[in-house]
Amino acid sequence: MKLGSLLALAGIVVSTMIFAADRDNALIDRIRPAGSVCLAGDECGSAAPAVTSGPRSGQAVYESSCFACHGAGVLGAPRLAIADDWADRLDQGFETLVDHVVNGLGAMPAMGTCTNCSQEEIEASVQYMLDSL
Ligand code: HEC
Repeated sequence: MKLGSLLALAGIVVSTMIFAADRDNALIDRIRPAGSVCLAGDECGSAAPAVTSGPRSGQAVYESSCFACHGAGVLGAPRLAIADDWADRLDQGFETLVDHVVNGLGAMPAMGTCTNCSQEEIEASVQYMLDSL
């Protein structure tokens, strides 16, 4: 074989290898997973979504945890917006009402079933019920 054709052959081999490498990269890009797993403690985990989860409103807590009983007066629960149901209870004052929810009262379980509620959220839900009267 002449030197010229040897060089040409070498050129074809090298360019084929480069082409193959490009193709592999493109393939890897195409089959790369859309998301990536982020384990606790990883740096990527701190990129939390910009949603602030502040305290829930009184209405939100009422609707998710209190309405089940206080909507229709289940088990004798004083009903939302029915002033008569609350008449004998209001004199105790706001703090006592809140304490009764936190600790439970009669058939009402502690925290009014909102076991992940903060004190602030319980207060807001009691206030929401009182505001309805
Ligand atoms: C499983 C039913 C039930 C759920 C859920 C419930 N309650 Fe009650 N609640 C009652 C009953 C029954 C009473 C009346 C208790 C009694 O006087 O013996 C009551 C009473 C109350 C009172 C009056 C307490 C007093 O001292 O007179 C308040 C305030 C109250 N609930 C708030 C809430 C709030 C706020 C929630 C939700 C975070 C809630 N409740 C969830 C059943 C429930």
